[in-house]
Amino acid sequence: MKFHVDKSAIAPTDANIVLTGNRESNFATPYLSDKELEYVNECISRKDSLIQINQYHRWIFVAVAEEKSTAHQTLEEYRKVAAKLIGTINNQKIEKIYLYNVDQDRTNLLAFAEGMALNNYQFLKYYSDSEKKKNSLSAIVLGNGEMEETETQLLQSLTDAVYHTRDMVNEPVSFMNAEQLASTFEKMGKEAGFTVEVFNKKKIESLKMGGLLAVNKGSIDPPTFTVMEWKPEAARNTQPLVLVGKGVVYDTGGLSLKPTHDSMDYMKCDMSGGATVAGTMYAIARAGLPVHVVGLVPATDNRPDGNAYAPGDVIRMYDGTTVEVLNTDAEGRLILADALGYAKHYNPSLVIDLATLTGSAAMAIGHYGIVGMGNVQPSIMEVLKKSGDQVYERIAEFPFWDEFSDLLKSDIADLKNIGGRIAGSITAGKFLEHFTDYPYIHLDIAGPAFLKTEDSYRGKGGTGTGVRLLFDFIKNMA
Ligand code: BES
Ligand code: ZN
Ligand code: ZN
Repeated sequence: MKFHVDKSAIAPTDANIVLTGNRESNFATPYLSDKELEYVNECISRKDSLIQINQYHRWIFVAVAEEKSTAHQTLEEYRKVAAKLIGTINNQKIEKIYLYNVDQDRTNLLAFAEGMALNNYQFLKYYSDSEKKKNSLSAIVLGNGEMEETETQLLQSLTDAVYHTRDMVNEPVSFMNAEQLASTFEKMGKEAGFTVEVFNKKKIESLKMGGLLAVNKGSIDPPTFTVMEWKPEAARNTQPLVLVGKGVVYDTGGLSLKPTHDSMDYMKCDMSGGATVAGTMYAIARAGLPVHVVGLVPATDNRPDGNAYAPGDVIRMYDGTTVEVLNTDAEGRLILADALGYAKHYNPSLVIDLATLTGSAAMAIGHYGIVGMGNVQPSIMEVLKKSGDQVYERIAEFPFWDEFSDLLKSDIADLKNIGGRIAGSITAGKFLEHFTDYPYIHLDIAGPAFLKTEDSYRGKGGTGTGVRLLFDFIKNMA
């Protein structure tokens, strides 16, 4: 989707137009005759939210968002009503649409444009008739005269980043093994301007990343460890923000095999955290945000095989910690632990990891939000949560009490990799915290990263959850 800004007072006479506003807004504009305005007002009083007017040479759409009690909920209503309009626009084979907010509200207009762009995403690569299936809409013109180019460019960088992220998540493992994931990151780095270094198996062995190597033992493909960096000269921070993403390109559970129906079918999505980290790097580099950020993604698949690591094994991690593996399906924490240990080299001000880590997080709050926890100052968590509300990738903060660490005590090693029946997402977070010595936030995106049924502009399949959240957070740091 391409965004443009039109600063002229009025759209061309053949332009298709969307007028957005709320139920109290005045939709009297040069685009509607008195009769048409009367009809629009009648529809609005009947509680319609999408109204279509065929002016023969063009369409006028009126989209009405519900006004909610908080600003961020209202923004989400604009995104949602925009998403609803996408089907109609593509059915009419419209390629370009002019958007106006009749209240001259830029924030609401941008949210509307964002909702449209995100819901216009398609993953068509594997359809034989993909050309036929392709949405016609490819350009959105932001019409309100005072709209800034810079705001539009931020939205362009961000939505392109979400598209890239979703593409990676939707790609099946046969086209997205660890090396393919890493070379996708390299391509994104070239396109957006951040640096990408990929460690191969030999290098990973020499670094003694025992967690990543253990999970990789059952694989026929080598692991990768990708280091991405965006270090602008004008960076506002002296110590970097480090983002870490789980890059399990496919999770069978390993020898602790997952039951095939349901629990394995969509496990190509288990690299969503890694894809989100790369997507965020892409967005901030394209937007040129003045913040020093490092992205780390350990990647491998997790499979059973003659050589696979087994329940009962004891492994030694990158930082020297020994771990008794009691379930090979708790593999994400093993590869992330090595990355969190590696992050210490950067003397980071903050480390945030994103991972489709536990079914327990998904069971607790479903796909409605992100399960978050951490040991940072409350004010920092509040800032991140505020970004979560703003972009509607909400964070539910779980307790991160010390006592949960007791559940990870092993009989024969420093730690075991599972914590038992209770608080599965928290014990996973506590396991990861063991490998940190800096302010740390853990985000479990197992619920929202991949959707089996459509949910407004998040679509179906990979959602790109976390990219918009982190982009907003980093933008505020700048
Ligand atoms: N990748 C899964 C978690 C997951 C579940 C992601 C559902 C997305 C949707 C993770 O590796 C896993 O298998 N976790 C186990 C941990 C358990 C063995 C302690 C789980 O949650 O069951
Ligand atoms: Zn697993
Ligand atoms: Zn997993």
